[in-house]
Amino acid sequence: MANILHIDSSPRGDRSISRSLSYEFVTSWKDTHPGDTVTYRDLGHNPVPHVDESWIAAAFTPPDVRTPELTEAIKLSDSLVDELLAADRYVFGVPMYNLNIPSTFKAYIDQIVRAGRTFTVGENGYQGLVDSSKKALIITSRGGTFPAGTPAAAYDLQEPYLRTILGFIGIIDVTFIHADSLNLGDTAREKSLAAAKSAIAQAVANW
Ligand SMILES: Cc1cc2nc3c(=O)[nH]c(=O)nc-3n(C[C@H](O)[C@H](O)[C@H](O)COP(=O)(O)O)c2cc1C
Repeated sequence: MANILHIDSSPRGDRSISRSLSYEFVTSWKDTHPGDTVTYRDLGHNPVPHVDESWIAAAFTPPDVRTPELTEAIKLSDSLVDELLAADRYVFGVPMYNLNIPSTFKAYIDQIVRAGRTFTVGENGYQGLVDSSKKALIITSRGGTFPAGTPAAAYDLQEPYLRTILGFIGIIDVTFIHADSLNLGDTAREKSLAAAKSAIAQAVANW
């Protein structure tokens, strides 16, 4: 029995492709894994705050010597880290915005990448503190397309960034499903959506 952390980050509601596809995956997964639990977070509609000066001061002050103000400043981050660490698997719906992730998702990453909580620095360099057996499935939505092996691939800063930052905290088993070509005409859009839905069905069976 696994606890899945499902996060959406599109500011759109019913029109969001990443949201509808991550929902499709999670509902199908629940049908076939009824014992699993799902924790849902909607960064698109309920964003977490950007880190600020008191957050930074608190993050770099040991918990036992934090003032009540510093403890308060890092409280939400602590609960987001707790939520992340309590999950066994991750399903993220992430639109591509300006070649990368939306700022809502970046604000979340800034809250959960924490020295001493999700990564540490030791004799062998950086080490992630999230159990490396935990898997992530990331469903992206993109207006364009950035196929591997083409010049356009260099514009995809989204998948490399997410692989790097998740790997940095220990999540190294990361699968991507890209719903792309969404703004390249009906034919390309429908073809890509069909491929993404097929990949989702396969992931439900094999993830
Ligand atoms: C502010 C903004 C920036 C975008 N930047 C890109 C981009 O760099 N590359 C791309 O392929 N599509 C881009 N798009 C298109 C979105 O990725 C596409 O519409 C996607 O479906 C949005 O996700 P959603 O449907 O889950 O809301 C952008 C859209 C917006 C609103």
